[in-house]
Amino acid sequence: MTGKREIIAVADSDTLARTAAERLLARIVQGGERPAIALTGGSSPEGLYRLLAQEPYRSRVPWERVHWFIGDDRFVPPDDRLSNMGMARRLFLDRVNAPAANIHPMATTVASPQTAARLYETELKSFYGADRLDRARPMFDLVLMGLGSDGHTASLFPGAPALEEKEHWVVGVDKAHLAPFVPRVTLTFPALASTREMLFLVSGEDKRDILARVLAGEDLPAARAASDGGLVWLVDRAAFAGRNAA
Ligand code: 6PG
Repeated sequence: MTGKREIIAVADSDTLARTAAERLLARIVQGGERPAIALTGGSSPEGLYRLLAQEPYRSRVPWERVHWFIGDDRFVPPDDRLSNMGMARRLFLDRVNAPAANIHPMATTVASPQTAARLYETELKSFYGADRLDRARPMFDLVLMGLGSDGHTASLFPGAPALEEKEHWVVGVDKAHLAPFVPRVTLTFPALASTREMLFLVSGEDKRDILARVLAGEDLPAARAASDGGLVWLVDRAAFAGRNAA
């Protein structure tokens, strides 16, 4: 069953980061022996990632059990400043006791984004333990998502064939619609949907127009994103015009 969208509006980006950290922890606690989180890139999750490396969160996360994936990445070497997993590593994963085997980056130094996509799909299937997604048994406990100014999410850009992908869990994207203009590798909607909770993080005034369009139901990639579990839009007051935030 596809979850109903919930909007949580908070005062500012600090509250957004703390609220996201609490939701992430709650999902980890409910996630059994091997909780799986799909991280995202962009600037919106940076505050959350920094918090996870600091107390009290650092001590509250059972690092030895949690597995960290990435919902999309730029096809650049892992130490490139543009790498999404590279950012997550710099901000928290390299600063805590996360076992290397629990961190699942995309292989971005292989021949092509398509090869990277096939490899990541194989890795996801092996972690999940099946070749087909079962809606009653989500792959992830939490999938983090961002919102681009053109309405993209993950690396699913407006008008791209990747939006229609129903079979593959991961695809290569040769051309980005928005800077940085480097090829991407992205999970598809069916794979992203296989989660107990999908959590969009949207912060800042420059997101106000596009957020209003998405929430009004315009046919944009971010508005198409569905979840087999909860679907939560965590937004701050700067991004979410017209309603008072807590
Ligand atoms: C990427 C991201 C992308 C991001 C949005 C929002 O690789 O660029 O995964 O989907 O989440 O573009 O980015 P900002 O938070 O920087 O606006």
